[in-house]
Amino acid sequence: MTTTMQTAVPSEIKDPSLREQGKRQIEWAERDMPVLKQIRERFAKEKPLEGLRLVACCHVTKETANLAIALKAGGADAILIASNPLSTQDDVAASLVEDYGISVYAWKGEDIATYTRHVNIALDHQPQLIIDDGADVIVTLVKERPQQIAAMIGSTEETTTGLVRLRAMARDGKLTWPAIAVNDAQTKHFFDNRYGTGQSTIDGILRATNILLAGRTVVVVGYGWCGRGVAMRARGLGANVIVTEVNPVKAIEAVLDGYQVMPLLDAAPLGDVFVTVTGNRHVIDRAHFMEMKDGAIVCNSGHFDLELNLEALGNMAESRETLRSFTEQYTMGDGRRIIVLGEGRLINLAAAEGHPASVMDMSFANQALGVEYLVKNKGKLSNDVHLLPAEVDQEIAALKLRSMGVSIDKLTPEMQEYMNSWQIGT
Ligand code: ADE
Repeated sequence: MTTTMQTAVPSEIKDPSLREQGKRQIEWAERDMPVLKQIRERFAKEKPLEGLRLVACCHVTKETANLAIALKAGGADAILIASNPLSTQDDVAASLVEDYGISVYAWKGEDIATYTRHVNIALDHQPQLIIDDGADVIVTLVKERPQQIAAMIGSTEETTTGLVRLRAMARDGKLTWPAIAVNDAQTKHFFDNRYGTGQSTIDGILRATNILLAGRTVVVVGYGWCGRGVAMRARGLGANVIVTEVNPVKAIEAVLDGYQVMPLLDAAPLGDVFVTVTGNRHVIDRAHFMEMKDGAIVCNSGHFDLELNLEALGNMAESRETLRSFTEQYTMGDGRRIIVLGEGRLINLAAAEGHPASVMDMSFANQALGVEYLVKNKGKLSNDVHLLPAEVDQEIAALKLRSMGVSIDKLTPEMQEYMNSWQIGT
């Protein structure tokens, strides 16, 4: 790694010589990120983040690069670290450092000790603003560096999983700055979680295995926004989809969407491919592995790598063997082989490139505007988890539609009046 290598700005990346390829990737993503581009251009003029120290802990991808460039254009003194040890695109990291002068501490395959060290380097930056994806930076801040909290203007959170942690922190009285729930914006989870995870998860499974999905049974564990997307896309490729859920409302939705719904233990012997998207721990456990058929493929597309109990699987297995990149086979005493993709880390970023730029455009427009909102409202927001105002969501959606060349109707004055009245009825 480059701790000892000379780079344009302080960094720890795999290889600065990958910069040219990385720049092409960043520019490729930019073509599909017109909303973020407009924000970047406005930021460059208005400098709303001038001189503010910002840490972004995100998947270091070509899409995130465009966010980092927009934040820098807005005047932020920003550094970027990875939110997952396996998701960094090393060429993109090289270009950010060498071409854009943004410090990056990340490489694909970094170990947990390095990941933790990078979180600490990020906190050494004394951030006033934190963009988190999974809440590892802010949890470390609260647990290990309480003396730095006073400098915080606020933070934003990208994922459902991070928000679960953030809201638990707020309940425990540990959230002592305002936080923006970017994930909860409609222009984030309707598209990123559903269409982004749907497509990129299938992409990861196919890049790792190249199996035909048509005619196979895919078990989608969890029917939140991500699960809906994965199930929809697996069905689109001809798979028979089984959904498992713990929430009765979501389970009804899956039934009415036309999927088979059953307990995971019943689905275990039926599935050819299992995908977890629950945000919970050990949802596929020893009892399920015991029931799976020979050759079953399991993977995770939730934020953390704890959805599959791989320790239990490791204990059950007599041997382990890597078959292809991101494809590891565990052989049981009874001869059954269970294949784990991407070490149980989110398969869409481990084996593929994450969500396409077109959806990240909206997610990262929310991030950029979320950070600006925190700065504009410094001292006015309570120390809690906030949604961005609905007008911001509407504005992002309107800009996105325009960029797609789609126009829509407007309410007439008559319609508007009716929507605001209560007198007219039967
Ligand atoms: N999360 C999912 N896909 C992503 C991407 N392409 N870039 C950054 N974060 C992501």
